Amino acid sequence: MPPRITQAVFGHLPDGSSVEGYTISNAHGLSMHVITWGAIITAIRVPDRAGHMGDIVLGFDSLSGYLNGSPYIGAIVGRYANRIAKGRFTLDGHSYQLPVNNGPNSLHGGLQGFDKVVWNAAPFESDTGAGLVLTHTSPDGDNGYPGRVDVQVRYTLNDHNELIIEYLATTNKATPLNLSQHSYFNLTGDAHRDILDHVLRLDAGHFTPVDSTLIPTGDLPSVAGTPFDFRTATAIGARIDRPDEQLRFGHGYDHNFVVDRNGAGVQHVARVVEPASGRTLDVLSDQPGVQFYSGNFLDGTLRGKGGRVYQRRFGFCLETQHFPDSPNHPAFASTILRPGERFTSRTIFRFGVAG
Ligand code: GLA
Repeated sequence: MPPRITQAVFGHLPDGSSVEGYTISNAHGLSMHVITWGAIITAIRVPDRAGHMGDIVLGFDSLSGYLNGSPYIGAIVGRYANRIAKGRFTLDGHSYQLPVNNGPNSLHGGLQGFDKVVWNAAPFESDTGAGLVLTHTSPDGDNGYPGRVDVQVRYTLNDHNELIIEYLATTNKATPLNLSQHSYFNLTGDAHRDILDHVLRLDAGHFTPVDSTLIPTGDLPSVAGTPFDFRTATAIGARIDRPDEQLRFGHGYDHNFVVDRNGAGVQHVARVVEPASGRTLDVLSDQPGVQFYSGNFLDGTLRGKGGRVYQRRFGFCLETQHFPDSPNHPAFASTILRPGERFTSRTIFRFGVAG
């Protein structure tokens, strides 16, 4: 059996330091590639129904693509994934102002979030899988956030064709924390076309409608009778251009869904089927929400792997997470991590083919 994980330099930062890349393979020939910059997943290669391998995530051939304005492609996002309104929150009587980087709001940890740092990496192998433990220390005051946070992300590719993502974080002062993985999937393989024919099922009966800056209003309405009802598998493109205020605000889907939870553990959240290739993606998670983003801001200005130009809606994200702007919504599940607590979370991306 060949090694399950190999390492090679991926590129260099402007200061000369190197960014490492790791290729992780499983017993069925699936593979993924991870770099230490942003803990980014740059490639996931899985078979279609005829057994042909294809790369099902967007990305770039070289490090420069990731350094020059990549919209979080493939990265771990934090300290707070998604938006905090006006970059402001109050915690234990103190008011904090984060730098804003998305209209009036703070997005994905601010100016230099977890997607824009070099992580430490330690590879591991077992009889049933292999992977990488990535660690990063976010200092006290990082991008305006209180407390030093030690975060660990563990990627495992196992022989059940699952990518398991496990998060662990601790802090020395109370801080908001919300961690997610920002891969853009396109199950056609090598991003042949947009993702509008992909058929999505979301196990979510409610969602968090937003204002025009994509901050939740606080309501949790039912999806019934709206273009947000994916409880029955529906093509992503079937209703995306409807004259609906929420779709207008998101320029398509860019919304957090409330997962129908029964209990606390990992459960099924979403299933995506790409009809032409037969490739499927199942998402399982223990998180209360999932941001479904239909790649609306891709606009043909990014040239990705193999020279492919990423046009509008050439990728979709299913970002398992807590609800956006939770620090300003006491009714939402708390995202405050306190000293002595351990934040743990787990998300599974399961790859397959449909008959
Ligand atoms: C998240 C946000 C989107 C967009 C992308 C990156 O999914 O919700 O609005 O910012 O990240 O472009």
